[in-house]
Amino acid sequence: MLAQSRILIVGLGLIGGSIALALRKTDPSIKLLAVDSAQDSLHAALASNVIDEAGTLEELVPSADIVIVALPSLTIATVIPEIAKYQRDDTVVTDVGSVKSHIIEVVNQQKPDFIANFVPGHPIAGSEQSGFQAAIDNLFDGRNVILTPQQLTSARAIGTINALWRALGADVLGMSVARHDAVLAATSHLPHLLAFAVVDTLVSHAQSEDIFRYAAGGFADFSRLASSDADMWSDIFVANASATEAMLDAYIDNLQALKSLLKSHDRSAMRQIFKRAKFSRDEFIARHFSHKKPSLMPENKISFISNPGTVLSGSIRVPGDKSISHRSVIFGALADGVTEVSGFLQGEDALNTVAAFREMGVTIVGPEDGKMTIYGVGLHGLQAPRKPLYMGNSGTAMRLLAGLLAAQTFTSELTGDESLTRRPMARVADPLRSMGAQIATAEKGTPPLQISGTALKGVHYDMPVASAQVKSCLLLAGLYADGQTSVSEPAPSRDHTERMLQGFGYPVNREEATATVSVSGGQAMTATAIDVPADISSAAFFLVAASISPGSDLTLQHVGINPTRIGVINILKAMGADITLANERNIGGEPVADLRVRGSALQGISIAQDQIPLAIDEFPVLFVAAACANGITELRGAEELRVKESDRLEAMAVGLRSLGISVETFADGIRIEGGTLTGGTVDSFTDHRIAMAFAVAGLRAQGAVTIKDCANVATSFPGFVALANQVGLQLTEQEG
Ligand code: S3P
Repeated sequence: MLAQSRILIVGLGLIGGSIALALRKTDPSIKLLAVDSAQDSLHAALASNVIDEAGTLEELVPSADIVIVALPSLTIATVIPEIAKYQRDDTVVTDVGSVKSHIIEVVNQQKPDFIANFVPGHPIAGSEQSGFQAAIDNLFDGRNVILTPQQLTSARAIGTINALWRALGADVLGMSVARHDAVLAATSHLPHLLAFAVVDTLVSHAQSEDIFRYAAGGFADFSRLASSDADMWSDIFVANASATEAMLDAYIDNLQALKSLLKSHDRSAMRQIFKRAKFSRDEFIARHFSHKKPSLMPENKISFISNPGTVLSGSIRVPGDKSISHRSVIFGALADGVTEVSGFLQGEDALNTVAAFREMGVTIVGPEDGKMTIYGVGLHGLQAPRKPLYMGNSGTAMRLLAGLLAAQTFTSELTGDESLTRRPMARVADPLRSMGAQIATAEKGTPPLQISGTALKGVHYDMPVASAQVKSCLLLAGLYADGQTSVSEPAPSRDHTERMLQGFGYPVNREEATATVSVSGGQAMTATAIDVPADISSAAFFLVAASISPGSDLTLQHVGINPTRIGVINILKAMGADITLANERNIGGEPVADLRVRGSALQGISIAQDQIPLAIDEFPVLFVAAACANGITELRGAEELRVKESDRLEAMAVGLRSLGISVETFADGIRIEGGTLTGGTVDSFTDHRIAMAFAVAGLRAQGAVTIKDCANVATSFPGFVALANQVGLQLTEQEG
């Protein structure tokens, strides 16, 4: 995409110069042109062969394929009209400004071709140094670049600028303009302002000379940013005045509060604040500088303490469906055109899938408040990942991506966290191999997966267990395979893949009589809009919590009630739960309803085996319902539960027993005798659903239930503690 192209850099300072050096190193076939008011920079760049031509905008813009404006924030806005004047219809223009809103304003006043071809960008790189002499060829290696494309920005232009930054080793993220400017005000502009202000305060201080004489490392660390370029930074503050002012107000309030604590010698309150700040900063540094742990999750351990509660009430919407969220990223990325997603689950698992597709060259803006825009690259547009794709805790992401990656023209590696690294992958690797795929697993058929993409042929596969992950994996591979790929399942598993493929215009055939789904390779998908319903798997915790709390009356809004997912409702109803569905509707191919649940006396039952795939993720909390029910509940035929994020049969059995419930386990199931839960401490075995199930159990326990290792709740249910407390649970979090 970049080879042989003519790239014009406007402004050869630290950023522009570093782009030139890096491009020169990456691809010598690129012709590099530069415009700069500082003749000495141009001469130096020409003399050292970093650029090929120097000139004016009028001379160089017309012949450029790409123009990169690398000037101070306010100056960028002033040169844009001139660049627009000379720009060819197809010249792609980008900038590197640290503030975006004022630039967008000017861009939107230009001709339509300019608007479509302008991709606002911001490399989060730089230093307190400035000027061409400070430029280096690896400034962008492993750094984030934020693109803030507009609705009218063309996919081609976005793809070009994404490829440019990838070539320089950067990770390309996407954000809305408003969010970008607010985030930067907080993370960059405020700290710079404070560094300038502190140094200036000391300079103006009567004994400043003495102070500087005794200043040491602490002062040097804190004040480093005050050595930044004054011109550039006054520009930035003017351009981003309102967002920075908002952050500054919050900071001043905080300072006032600290001042009162100082005055009152309130050591313990100060200590609390400092502890919280230290924790957060340590987390940030560990994440930022560690390549071993790419997870966004806190590395420190978190426990939940669930206290007995009374009634649950209110009306809430739980976060978006995890299965549908993963698939929205995958299909949005593979479609032609722009896919808008709303209701997206901003949990760790789905965010890792977003990161994986970004790593494969897909530009994704958001997610912000559940909204996300995916600039699809088409079925054949993915780029080779430059590093292993980290799927965190998510079996779904790893298995679905295995099918997709097996059919690409590049090699890739899929890795995950400790829990995922123990989970079986032969169930996808074996049938994929029968299609011709080249996949290596670790010795026991577990991750990591090393995949050498290759041409595949369609096959028929009879799934031994009903697994939507295996089915979806093969269907994804089937999109690329020669001929037809078909999968038959022993019982219906969730069908979001089939529904979404159809939503994207890809033909899928389902033969009910043989429970077989098939696709033929070689067709295309067209972008669409996706509204992700609330996750019934997350709603399940509240369905049980309200059911076991007499007098409760709770509504869960906009919950996905796809027939392949409603086992939890069926099972709870069979136990005597009072659940009613209202406002049933169809949203983008998925049925949705508001669920009203009231407290009721539950009875133990023998769970029908046909419900297992329909409630596969909800058993941990259903076992809590069983512990609170009258009599015995038995589940058989559910050996799958042993290979989820934890061995969920044992994890629940161990925990329930330690809370005084009588439980027996079998290779394929569990038998729970309803009784009285005592307080106590249980282990979540780092499984998010075990953690949340025991948080619900605490409602009906005689004393507090402490649940260890709950950080993974963020994989599927960010904000769980706050939402639970909002409706009446008595839940707190603590470190350790
Ligand atoms: C999922 C399928 C289920 C489920 C998982 C999500 C999916 O796994 O447990 O949480 O999105 O396809 P299996 O299909 O392996 O049972």
